[in-house]
Amino acid sequence: MKKVLKIAGIILGIVLVLIGGFALYINATGIPSYDLELPENYAVSADSASLTNGEKLVRLTCMDCHINYENQLLEGKKMFDVPASFGEVWSANLNHPETGLKSYSNEELAYLLRTGVKKDGKYAPPWMVKFPNMADEDLRDIIAFLRSDHPMLQPSEVRQPAPRPSFLVKFLSHVAFKPFPYPQQEIALPNAGDQIARGQYVADAVAGCFSCHSADFTTIDEYTPVNSAGYYGGGNLLKDAAGQDIYSANLTMHPETGIGNWSEQQFIDAVKWGKGPKYPVRVPMPKYTDLTDDEIRAIFAYLKTIPVIENSVDRTR
Ligand code: HEC
Ligand code: HEC
Repeated sequence: MKKVLKIAGIILGIVLVLIGGFALYINATGIPSYDLELPENYAVSADSASLTNGEKLVRLTCMDCHINYENQLLEGKKMFDVPASFGEVWSANLNHPETGLKSYSNEELAYLLRTGVKKDGKYAPPWMVKFPNMADEDLRDIIAFLRSDHPMLQPSEVRQPAPRPSFLVKFLSHVAFKPFPYPQQEIALPNAGDQIARGQYVADAVAGCFSCHSADFTTIDEYTPVNSAGYYGGGNLLKDAAGQDIYSANLTMHPETGIGNWSEQQFIDAVKWGKGPKYPVRVPMPKYTDLTDDEIRAIFAYLKTIPVIENSVDRTR
């Protein structure tokens, strides 16, 4: 008996030392780094159509996180909606002459936006979005606009602190969060005549509606959005403007718990102006004033094709 206890004790000791060693290793290495496999010559064109599209996409996909609303510069800020368990996070000053976009080549920028790996090889955890499924035409337009001298891109010397990831984020970055592969081939825009494909593209690959509107941020699949748990069934716990709990709405066509009884116009009014037929659509749901009615109609058409989920979301909080 004594011998068995002794052996069990030794095994337990070894396990504890291994766990402790792994924890020390993770804490010491922090967020992991990766080798960059940059695309060759990611040329962009600065014609006016590209710049107009690029500006629209930057407003839609970068601005919320990177803009200082007081001076309208993309100079970064403290991110208050990152869960406290993830640590303290500041978004980068994109306009800094030495450390901002000017220090990134087009290839490095495309690589960061697709894979999540920064030019120094460090991985950017999920607090910075990735666009693994965006069409190259749109990605090139974003980069073209970011190279322009638009007022929101004027130089700023502000230095944002580097994020202070919690142990949890460091741990998850070793075992769960991984960079996405850089696509082997160019990604084409969906066929202009295919309304449903266009709707899926805008909702999933560009605006990322699924990330808030599925069950939980920890179970979304950014690479293959349709595999996210509770895809568009809502119920994801978020914070409103006052820092109070609020749940995302069910956007599937369930007649009682989703938007199955909504008209196309009601959907447009909600997405663009925050006017729902029954309830106002509150923060943190953005007002998508930069999406055209045609794009919002396409999203609605797409939502009509996905599996219906019965999930009654509490609208009182
Ligand atoms: C959900 C919020 C969010 C969105 C949306 C977002 N970013 Fe970021 N971004 C961050 C955060 C947070 C960091 C700091 C990340 C880090 O250092 O781990 C960051 C860092 C960066 C960096 C600096 C990387 C470095 O080397 O330090 C660049 C460049 C960047 N973002 C560009 C963009 C562009 C371009 C877009 C739009 C296409 C965008 N971001 C959209 C949150 C966001
Ligand atoms: C940052 C998270 C977030 C993103 C991104 C987001 N939403 Fe929402 N959305 C919410 C939340 C939270 C609510 C619930 C608001 C409330 O209860 O007042 C909501 C509500 C809605 C509603 C109202 C539904 C109802 O039953 O009243 C619609 C429609 C909607 N979102 C569509 C979209 C579309 C389309 C997109 C992408 C273009 C999108 N949302 C992106 C968070 C988000």
